[in-house]
Amino acid sequence: MRLVATTSVDEGALLGKAIYNDQGLILLNAGARLEGRILNRLLDFGIDYIYIKDPDTDDIILTNSISDELRVNAIMTIGETFKQIQLDTKISHSFVLEKSARKFKKLISVLLDELQRSKELLNLLSDVFIHDHYIFSHSLNVTLYALAIGIEMKLPPKELEQLGLGAILHDVGKMKVPEDILAKPGKLTAEEFKIIKAHAEDGFQILRNIPTVPLIVAHCAYQHHERLNGSGYPRGLKGDEIHLFGRILGVADVFDAVTSNRVYRPAMLPHEGLEILYSGSGNLFDPMVVDAFRRAVAIYPIGLTVILSDGRKGVVSAQNPGLSERPIVRILEEDGRRVVPYELDLKVYLSLMIVNCDTIIKYEYANNY
Ligand SMILES: [Fe+2]
Repeated sequence: MRLVATTSVDEGALLGKAIYNDQGLILLNAGARLEGRILNRLLDFGIDYIYIKDPDTDDIILTNSISDELRVNAIMTIGETFKQIQLDTKISHSFVLEKSARKFKKLISVLLDELQRSKELLNLLSDVFIHDHYIFSHSLNVTLYALAIGIEMKLPPKELEQLGLGAILHDVGKMKVPEDILAKPGKLTAEEFKIIKAHAEDGFQILRNIPTVPLIVAHCAYQHHERLNGSGYPRGLKGDEIHLFGRILGVADVFDAVTSNRVYRPAMLPHEGLEILYSGSGNLFDPMVVDAFRRAVAIYPIGLTVILSDGRKGVVSAQNPGLSERPIVRILEEDGRRVVPYELDLKVYLSLMIVNCDTIIKYEYANNY
């Protein structure tokens, strides 16, 4: 399987991995023949990268970080709660959230189980879903990233549970933002931005009075847009004034925002998202958190075409846990010429670096598939 830019897929290629909607229905089966009409439709939905079948990488197995079923159930649980909060008056938030907090706790323990059991690095790029409600899948993704960071930082189970709950609910205040502002594709006006920014404090106010929700969870909503140097909002907190969970959520939130499929701007690949975090490390983001994130997440996902510092070109075929920047690469080209494919473990060849990634497929490989 190979990860390619949707724009570069030729007609007739076969889809490598099914595409789902929010309700878990398969929109396009693995093996579906991709025609121009379908490819355009995917681009309309903001799907910038897809997995296609490819003879050179056919045996490379791609596993989802969490099962499709769990993802769908999680998004539905989050969606139900958020929609109720959107509709309900202030008085009943407490009731809705008390009920949901129990469901969320169960969900977090299942997510933690799957994350801790899996030896793979976290790769959410492989879960291709078309979303009606970005905010629900975003809440789930941020939870997975935050838990992966928390596990990497060896937080105790109780704290992981609280961090998970804070992550699921970090954007709950957005349910008070009018939908047309939330979904606005272009640049926001100063007034609109002010309304969006209010979601951090609104989330805090919604959560802090719920007896079954620990206060730290409310602070996750309050602090996830604070930045180390004081440039964040709503309070402009600095350094250690921001709780560790707030610092973790800041990293998880930004990474998911830039690497997610959105209709109005192209998604970044994980290594590009990580560059954003690196450029803000120590300044906007806690370096320890960024570092834990780098170790936990698949920076070069399986199936991605990479170019090495000596000019060799290949496809990431497996990950080295804890060493996300040094995966195993199946070399397909040397000096621009095809070679008999072989595996090269970048954990062993430390002088070699990945210098570029390529999501444009040269289709002569796959035409005869
Ligand atoms: Fe937010």
